[in-house]
Amino acid sequence: MKLSETQKKFVEDLLGKMTLEEKVGQLNQDSPSIVGGFDVPFEELIEMLTDGRISQEEFGKIMATAERDFHEDDIRAGMVGSVMGNDPVKANELQKIAVEETRLGIPLLMGFDVIHGLRSVFPIAIAEAGTFDDDLMERTAQMAAKESRAYGINWNFAPMLDVARDSRWGRVSEGPGEDPFLASKFARAKIKGLQNNNDSVDSYVAACTKHYVAYSACEAGRDYNTTSMSTSQLYNVYLPTFKAAMEEGACSAMASFNDLNGVPCTVNSYTLRDILKGEFGLEGFVVSDANGIRECVTHGIAEDDVDAGIMALNAGLDMDMGTRIFYNHIAQAVKDGKVSMETLDDAVRRILSVKVWLGLFENPYVPQEAIEAYKANLPKEHIALCEEAAEKSIVLLKNEDKLLPLNKTDKFTLVGELADRPDEVVGAWSLAWEKDDCVSIKAGLENANANFEYYPVCGPEGEINAEELKLAIESDSDIVVAVVGEYTSMSGEASSKADITLPGHQQEMLKKLVAAGKKVVAVLMNGRPLALGWEAEKLPAILEGWHLGIQMGTAITKVLFGEVNPSGKLSSTFSSVNGQEPMYYNHPNTGRPGSKSKFTSKYLDAPIEPCFPFGYGLSYTTFEYSDLKLTENKDEIIASFTLKNTGNVAGTEVAQLYMQDVTASLVRPVRELKNYERVQLNPGESKQLTLSLRKCDMGFYNNDAKYVCEDGLFRIYVGGNSKDTMEEEIRIKF
Ligand code: NOJ
Repeated sequence: MKLSETQKKFVEDLLGKMTLEEKVGQLNQDSPSIVGGFDVPFEELIEMLTDGRISQEEFGKIMATAERDFHEDDIRAGMVGSVMGNDPVKANELQKIAVEETRLGIPLLMGFDVIHGLRSVFPIAIAEAGTFDDDLMERTAQMAAKESRAYGINWNFAPMLDVARDSRWGRVSEGPGEDPFLASKFARAKIKGLQNNNDSVDSYVAACTKHYVAYSACEAGRDYNTTSMSTSQLYNVYLPTFKAAMEEGACSAMASFNDLNGVPCTVNSYTLRDILKGEFGLEGFVVSDANGIRECVTHGIAEDDVDAGIMALNAGLDMDMGTRIFYNHIAQAVKDGKVSMETLDDAVRRILSVKVWLGLFENPYVPQEAIEAYKANLPKEHIALCEEAAEKSIVLLKNEDKLLPLNKTDKFTLVGELADRPDEVVGAWSLAWEKDDCVSIKAGLENANANFEYYPVCGPEGEINAEELKLAIESDSDIVVAVVGEYTSMSGEASSKADITLPGHQQEMLKKLVAAGKKVVAVLMNGRPLALGWEAEKLPAILEGWHLGIQMGTAITKVLFGEVNPSGKLSSTFSSVNGQEPMYYNHPNTGRPGSKSKFTSKYLDAPIEPCFPFGYGLSYTTFEYSDLKLTENKDEIIASFTLKNTGNVAGTEVAQLYMQDVTASLVRPVRELKNYERVQLNPGESKQLTLSLRKCDMGFYNNDAKYVCEDGLFRIYVGGNSKDTMEEEIRIKF
């Protein structure tokens, strides 16, 4: 976000005209309250939908029938800076009040959770990050921005940039996985996609990076739990995505619910003022998470609402989501000298700057053509992008004896309740999908005229239907495609789990099918890396399908029949058993790395190795890496190598480069991703490739928050995942 001198002057002039109350009004984000049977704020209703307390259908009914209070009088009085919602007609109505009926005519920011697409729902972020396709990540964000504007949204509560290492945490599904390098690339692509198309007002929105910061490090993966870590860990693991987003000009950030080393991030001036605004240069503003300011009282860091509000604003939190604490108490706090006018002005200036940058003063309304654009069917190019993203996100985890791809004419049996659930393909934080757009796996197979019989048998909850299981076992085909996994509501916010194996009786169903001699292909639909020890050992083929969005069924069908060769990789490590969590590849070295010998770092009753490592994913062809050579120039190390497609079909491989700083002043990770490239190869084709490692990326932050590059020995690894690699050593003097 860059403002011209004229725009900056416009902001200053406007600020100069504002009363104390009007300034406070800009810091207030309101949600429409649902009145009548459901007297809850809109964002609470959204949370109820997301965490499964109400179904999409119930949500739809409430939205269609309930009366809502949009606080028009407060908007008219200039006491509202932002509103939450995704209805363009309502957005225009409210915007008209703000623009035409308030003293200064300041338009509203219209915020909404558009995490992985709006009506065009793309794969959840953990899946999309596994494409290692920066260009795709940017294009999906661009489309989300365009749809958002048509729905009256100009501010997206995305991207979610929490690097997550513990799959018990339900929100792993919303973020780009466990690796800071890949996640930072994702961050850059998303900011570009959301914000950069700004030659036309209907194509860009303000991004809101979240949840700032270290929310994903919640102890034991339990959502909202306490977080505690060293400065070096904060800087090396949890801050890089936000730094990258700020370098791309992200407009805003959302403070996370957690405390960090005892200070809730909502009132943390070290992370907000010193790091985000100071060091990383955020020019836009920080919003609290929903109810975040009030929760500082529950945290026990503020005595009451007034105290919490003053602490938050002074710490650098500019906008209050949902509590009206700023609205109710900040004017008085300024009069009492507890918040300075300078602090208030700084917050208002930041919010106004984003509004100016968005062009809202010139173009506050959604044009009628845009409102009409998505009323009927989704445009073809939106469906095509949903399909491309879904196809590229699928990860082939196992394929014994080349069981996949299936022959299209051969008969097979399809089981699993999830196969026939179009409403379950979208994943957590999908709030504007239309059922008719969603292609379930069963529908995808039907559309392709596949030859199969379907028995639901069992889902993530509930019992096995014995009759259906019997029919599946007695069917004359020996191949069973079993769609198993998690409901959407089992990941996302407030969906941490202590047991991350396949939920319900699904594994029991698989065991019975295997015992009956069936060749079982598991197709997983899930929001988190599951502990798949049993499945990985006993099933001949496994496809990781995640929640792939509205084109899930089409994409899975094409992969099952080999029309698309899978190329996705894991953006997170998969454990074999629950107790291995948190499990991530780039862990610090220990003095006693886990091994067969007793006195080493491991569990007595769990494998040392993960079930599937970070970066892992097979293809219907095979790739061979050879001839790794390192050369060095002033700024980079260049790894050259040969990559060959040694199979019979064309395929795309993600070649990955990792580094280990062998000896350093702090214990460093056993390996760290530093570069990657998607490479397409025809059967038998080989390519000479290079992956560079910038010397400026070879350092790390120490416990004084200083980035240091230390001379010494580095090990460089190249391969198709974080474990199976070639390696060379190089000594570097910076
Ligand atoms: C709570 C969630 O933590 C956050 O991700 C979301 O953007 C807000 N609520 C608004 O819905």
